Amino acid sequence: MRNSCFLLVAGLVMLTGCSQQFDVGQHIGYCHQQVKHSLSELAPIDYTQTPRNIGPEESHWNLKDAKTSEEWCSGFFPGILWMCGEKEQAARYTQELECLAYRPAYDHDLGFQMIGSFLKGWQCLDEKSDADKATKDHYRQVLIDAADTLATLFNPRVGTLLSWPRNVGMFGGHNTIIDNMINLELLFWADQQLKEGQGSTYDGRLSRIAVSHADTTMRYHFREDGTINHVAVYDTITGRHIRNCNHQGYDDNSLWSRGQAWAIYGYTMVYRYTRDAKYLDFAQKVTDVMLSQLPEDHIPYWDMRDPKIPDTYRDASAAAIIASALIELAGYVEQDKAQKYIREAQTILETLSSADYQSRDRNPAFLLHSVGNMPAGSEIDASIIYADYYYIEALTRFNNYRNTWK
Ligand code: GLY
Repeated sequence: MRNSCFLLVAGLVMLTGCSQQFDVGQHIGYCHQQVKHSLSELAPIDYTQTPRNIGPEESHWNLKDAKTSEEWCSGFFPGILWMCGEKEQAARYTQELECLAYRPAYDHDLGFQMIGSFLKGWQCLDEKSDADKATKDHYRQVLIDAADTLATLFNPRVGTLLSWPRNVGMFGGHNTIIDNMINLELLFWADQQLKEGQGSTYDGRLSRIAVSHADTTMRYHFREDGTINHVAVYDTITGRHIRNCNHQGYDDNSLWSRGQAWAIYGYTMVYRYTRDAKYLDFAQKVTDVMLSQLPEDHIPYWDMRDPKIPDTYRDASAAAIIASALIELAGYVEQDKAQKYIREAQTILETLSSADYQSRDRNPAFLLHSVGNMPAGSEIDASIIYADYYYIEALTRFNNYRNTWK
């Protein structure tokens, strides 16, 4: 029923004209121009150095060493290049990250590193071209191997992946952060590939790990109203849930916006792979509580419970992640809800696409005004690569949605 509603719902959403005014093609064109600007500024390109951020007083990308496991953002620039049709450059950046799949897992961010690069590449390459087919086969194997590496972080007593092995002492146990939800996609996707390819030897292990992580997180990580704490801590030996606490948000009782965005995107993605209604219901719960708190222009404050609101920073990255997730979620729900989610996504994208948020000639990123890690004083009010990644993903999803129902 939920899925069969999609065609009708999407058609009705378009017929009501709620998404007609926004010129999404113009903003996708803007992103393509900015990418060309970045590539020309980066030339001659060192593909081991990945664009990460541009501070509020700066005008050029700060680069990071893409091949270190610590650089969690190294998949996003190749992902942007894949989505903007810069195939050759995307493939060269992507290839540099292969080594990450074959090292012991440093932390859960292996998912972010691989999904933006190899998985986006796999999705964008053309099955019908012989050259692309060979590259796709290669990417598929790297992704399956990376999923096996990521799965080594799973603690079966807890039921989740250990997000930050280096921080077990600091948190006093097995820690799982809400961001980790995104990286379950690597496990689900690899499992799906193995299911198609392995026949009777397929055992569903990766999918079971991802489902266990999603279920355990759903049970322990959230407050009654569906809002998140950044970190859940479990006893490494017994698996018992010990406590939840803050890390990148304002405090233990606050609502770190990007964390909530990861939950919205994460549970929507889990529903895509499992088609289990409990995840769809939960995705709506964590979405609705966030939407009910957004300011009028729909760009979240970096933390929705910062006492300095409205005199504090917005987070464009959280807005972009939420917009992208909303467009997917709209495809799974009943008509009224779908209309609401599309309208909310459109409002976010309209604000992000305004002169207040687009970087335009100030720098080669797509967007201004994201917050990376406020408590650490890092990347405050900056252009950050993952905001751009989810913005172009959201614009592309919005465009596909609209084109399908023209
Ligand atoms: N660790 C991902 C984030 O800062 O959202």
